[in-house]
Amino acid sequence: MLEPQIDPNLLKIILKDYRLSPRGIHGVSHWMRVIRYGLDLAEETGADRPLVVLFGLLHDSCRRNDSKDRVHGRRAAAYVHQLADRNILRLSPTELITLKEACAGHTSGLGPDYLPCPTVQTCWDADKLDLHRLGYEIDTRQLWTEAAIQRAVNREFIEVEKPDY
Ligand SMILES: [Fe+2]
Repeated sequence: MLEPQIDPNLLKIILKDYRLSPRGIHGVSHWMRVIRYGLDLAEETGADRPLVVLFGLLHDSCRRNDSKDRVHGRRAAAYVHQLADRNILRLSPTELITLKEACAGHTSGLGPDYLPCPTVQTCWDADKLDLHRLGYEIDTRQLWTEAAIQRAVNREFIEVEKPDY
């Protein structure tokens, strides 16, 4: 697999704004695994790869704590909007909507009538697969894509080599 293209300046800005420890359970090593899972899944789901990378970097970037922070996804969507307004993220209107939806809904969806597109599904599944880092069994009923379900069933997880936490 190709190494993901991560914009170092963007990462620097996100880390400057991040209020928690980058070494925490929702910090940088989690972001990188979400990107790796997402890009792997994208091979099958056809997800937009640059958006998957941005989701990995941004979805947890506005957490205020490492436990229950129910609005961190919506906060991340607002942050995405702000970064786009500042021209730090250069996205088309459709890409911006997709990334905001992926961030806003990644913990509990966006309502019963919202059907996520393959890119959003891939982002959400990538994040779910990394629950493995915390020792949780992955509930395949909460996964959207066949690629992620297969991965969970076959227990093809990215191991956390040296946990920081
Ligand atoms: Fe996450």
